[in-house]
Amino acid sequence: MTINWGILGAGRIARKFATDFKIVPNGKLLAVASRSQNRSTEFAEEFNIPEAYSSYEEMVKNPEINVVYVATTHNFHFEHVQLCLHNGKSVLCEKPVSVNSAELAILQKLAEEKNLFFMEALWTYYLPTIQQASKWIKEGRIGEVKQLQVSFGFHGDMNKNRRLANPDLAGGALLDIGIYGIAMSELVFNEEIDSIHALAHFSETGIDDDNNLQIRYKNGGMAQISSSLTCKLKNEAVIYGTKGRIEIPNFWMAKKACLLTKEEEIEFLDKTPQLGYNYEAFAVNELLLKNATESPVIPIEKSKKILSIMDEVRKQIGLKYPFEK
Ligand SMILES: NC(=O)c1ccc[n+]([C@@H]2O[C@H](COP(=O)([O-])OP(=O)(O)OC[C@H]3O[C@@H](n4cnc5c(N)ncnc54)[C@H](OP(=O)(O)O)[C@@H]3O)[C@@H](O)[C@H]2O)c1
Repeated sequence: MTINWGILGAGRIARKFATDFKIVPNGKLLAVASRSQNRSTEFAEEFNIPEAYSSYEEMVKNPEINVVYVATTHNFHFEHVQLCLHNGKSVLCEKPVSVNSAELAILQKLAEEKNLFFMEALWTYYLPTIQQASKWIKEGRIGEVKQLQVSFGFHGDMNKNRRLANPDLAGGALLDIGIYGIAMSELVFNEEIDSIHALAHFSETGIDDDNNLQIRYKNGGMAQISSSLTCKLKNEAVIYGTKGRIEIPNFWMAKKACLLTKEEEIEFLDKTPQLGYNYEAFAVNELLLKNATESPVIPIEKSKKILSIMDEVRKQIGLKYPFEK
């Protein structure tokens, strides 16, 4: 059986996802929907997708579609995931899966009631490089993990009409890229949290354009996470243990990881030409073929924990979006 996909929102990430999807063997892109018929038709032609809709509502009524990839801006995820679930579709939703953990609790309940598959597209967790780094940690190759330092920053487009700078679209560094550092921390430590400390700078448009946070876990592990839309940061994750460290350049889209200890220096390289969205898509197909309702790699509880950390950071830095007031 082949899993049929619909893409909801024909923007930038949808394009990258569709590009990598070309090598995914167990699924087919059957439909795409955009608010603009021109955009969906163009997208469908470019990626050889049979059906192009100008309405999300119409697309999710297509009985042939098994799963919808929600690729709209953060603020719409809550509404669009509900639309899919109410119409009997499984969902892979872009990160952050919702703007806060209260929204996610509602989505989780709905997915459970409908007995449908639901997962956040935290694609990083499925990358072979990250899986290799996790394996090194589990094998104790760097000893007990004590610290994580992670940064993700670039010169963002600060035009208010673009999603990154626009508070109405839930813009800002934390929800867009800080989430990757938090997800990394959760992968490395996977522990109860003891405390969180956060600082931020705000742009003229009212979003966090620079932030710094520290998380301490109950086992003593600590993470320092920086994200920026004003500067290009080092863009690396370094995981420090009592016996050595693991360095992962561009960790959110990792292609390389280095294990560095007194005894060994090992480099892992993923030489595949894709960006890596194919791994999560392949996994979703496999899970759907097994009638699973969640991913064991990115369970909803993990997404909830990450969102609850972001809720706390937002409380500390005073970041509220206009539609939440
Ligand atoms: N996994 C990753 O590596 C990655 C990378 C980038 C982004 N993302 C995530 O993907 C999501 C989309 O990001 P993107 O960069 O693709 O965004 P985008 O291109 O700016 O927008 C995506 C889609 O959202 C809808 N949209 C945009 N602005 C809107 C507005 N003002 N009002 C109503 N709808 C609007 C549009 O859908 P229509 O086509 O229907 O008009 C648009 O095509 C975000 O949640 C982001 O966090 C993930």
